[in-house]
Amino acid sequence: MIEIVPSILSAHFARLHEEIAQVEKAGVRLVHIDVMDGHFVPNITVGPPVVASIRKITQLKLDVHLMVSEPDKFIPAFLKAGADHISVHQEACVHLDRTLNSIREGGAGAGVVLNPATPLGTIEEVLELVDHVLLMSVNPGFGGQRLIPSVLRKASRLRAMRNELGLDFAIEVDGGVNLDNLAMVIRAGFDWIVAGSAVFDSPDPAATVGRMQQIAREATLVRV
Ligand code: DX5
Ligand code: ZN
Repeated sequence: MIEIVPSILSAHFARLHEEIAQVEKAGVRLVHIDVMDGHFVPNITVGPPVVASIRKITQLKLDVHLMVSEPDKFIPAFLKAGADHISVHQEACVHLDRTLNSIREGGAGAGVVLNPATPLGTIEEVLELVDHVLLMSVNPGFGGQRLIPSVLRKASRLRAMRNELGLDFAIEVDGGVNLDNLAMVIRAGFDWIVAGSAVFDSPDPAATVGRMQQIAREATLVRV
């Protein structure tokens, strides 16, 4: 099942409650929260207090994407804040196996993220430990960038690895997805589709999500 996952990075941060309510009404099941530390990526966003506040105003599953240099330091606080899924970058983890286990032991879904230039081979040994793999389709740090097309081949290869290993983690894409390229992205094999600016910079976020869900249904029918 394909999930459209709105990223609040492009939402109006002073009106997060209304922004999230709009996409919740449109029938999404997850909302993506980008955490940036100004060190791992050249931007700063939000931390555990904002995640805890969002937890109080929505039933949606919170998909927390940690773009921070030392994720182990912060995982307990995000678990406590109510994150349902926590993703850490392979590039930021010295002991990736330990970090992913700590997320699962804390009761959240564990995800590993790869930047566009990081090969799939770097996570082969931890695929059994993850609930989702997030393939960055832009260099992380900012919304509104263009999708880097090599991620499409990467998704197909990851699907093949998943089949061979008999695993069932979700494959997530993040960055540059819009109404024009969504069908192509789904045909490449992604299951969770993060979309920030395409949703929240549109005049009617709920209608845009509805359109994306329709495109997803159609594209899934022709997926190999
Ligand atoms: C980028 C973030 C993304 C961002 C995507 O570093 O990880 O989640 O919100 O934004 P769009 O969909 O606008 O590329
Ligand atoms: Zn993200």
